Amino acid sequence: MQYIPIKNLSEFVGKEVTLRGWLYNKRSSGKVRFIILRDGTGLLQCIYFKGNVSNEVFELADRLGQESSIEVTGKVKEEPRAPGGFELDATGLSVISESHDYPITPKEHGVEFLMDLRHLWLRSSKQTAILRIRHRIVKAIRDYFDGHGFTLMDPPILTPAACEGTSTLFETPYFDLGKAYLTQSGQLYAEAGAMAFGKVYTFGPTFRAEKSKTRRHLTEFWMVEPEVAFAELNDDMDLAEDFLEYVVQTVIKDKEEELKIIERDTTHLKNIKKPLPRITYDEAVDILKKNGIDFEWGNDLGAADETIISNQYEKPVMVHHYPSIVKAFYMKRDPNNDKLALAVDVLAPEGYGEIIGGSQREDNYDVLLQRIKEHNLPQEAFEWYLDLRRYGSVPHSGFGLGIERTVAWICGLDHVRETIPFPRMIYRNTP
Ligand code: 4AD
Ligand code: MG
Repeated sequence: MQYIPIKNLSEFVGKEVTLRGWLYNKRSSGKVRFIILRDGTGLLQCIYFKGNVSNEVFELADRLGQESSIEVTGKVKEEPRAPGGFELDATGLSVISESHDYPITPKEHGVEFLMDLRHLWLRSSKQTAILRIRHRIVKAIRDYFDGHGFTLMDPPILTPAACEGTSTLFETPYFDLGKAYLTQSGQLYAEAGAMAFGKVYTFGPTFRAEKSKTRRHLTEFWMVEPEVAFAELNDDMDLAEDFLEYVVQTVIKDKEEELKIIERDTTHLKNIKKPLPRITYDEAVDILKKNGIDFEWGNDLGAADETIISNQYEKPVMVHHYPSIVKAFYMKRDPNNDKLALAVDVLAPEGYGEIIGGSQREDNYDVLLQRIKEHNLPQEAFEWYLDLRRYGSVPHSGFGLGIERTVAWICGLDHVRETIPFPRMIYRNTP
């Protein structure tokens, strides 16, 4: 038996086909039964007329509950008003497995209820649309780097030390070696890769034991991190804007249908083309002051501050030259002002805040060693990292883009929890 996916129905107009899937919804009116079939590739309305089918089939169409797995047969008709543009003049219906009392009904449910049932909620049209867009974003990211001379390098997940700061580490016992930590970032390993390949990117899950209960924070999230040898801060920003333009433009062109399903207005996304505005931290502070914020120089930008700054622009804005005290130990200082780090954060519009964090790295052995000591990091664990400065050190830079924040922004979602199949947050690690 050849089963036809719903997305291919245009090739079968006027023909009899058999499809498999799940009962998404149903209704009846007099002598007609409507079953909406869902097969993972689309939705299809199947129409059963009492006179055209056996009593058995007609009763079955009445009895089956939402999400029963079924097989349907019928003739494909074009129907511009139907979802997907086709309808099935159905004759056959058989059950693979009956389902009753499916807990998620077409009525409204609360988000916590749906999150408890995330394994089932994934079947809804909006959730599959979001995750298809996520898939396309991931592919666009890979395509970009693969097409620009970068080598993919997978960093370890179990690591011996902190990368982004000791306060947000998940630790686990590790045999006779004491403790290991879930990686916060693949960057340090990407730096080793950049010295081997010139240009690399890492792409994988990263972990932060942050006690942040906000709409932008997960404890487990995915990050892509390019790292480039012989690149300075400006080169890093050039790369970030070229990359972002490619990802956004590719995804909105390719995923128009899904973006429509989630009702995302893409007008402003269409304008995300380089150049992106670049401002210094000092200029960002001026913007805050002009907007009546009592902001002290030297503090990190909070979510509310980022929103005010990014609201000044239609496109993502790059904020660079942050105070070094709010940034990581590995960032190179501005040679003209030791208080500043050669760092850049990219803030997305519409209040989405930081989606990219990057910098030029400290490439001087003595300075880096001093930073490691200042940050009370265990020097032993960083000897290999110092080796990168002992043996042929070069200026190098990179950045990290958080996938979930990027999906939330492109999809226009108000929380990152719907951007990943099974979100991990401080108050949730199930299902
Ligand atoms: O700014 P972060 O901490 O930078 C780094 O990890 C660097 N090592 C990257 C590099 O230079 N190679 O994180 C980078 C990005 C953020 O801009 C944000 O998009 C995302 O990762 N991110 C999170 N996303 C979801 N939940 C969290 N708790 C996140 N923390 C960071
Ligand atoms: Mg950051």
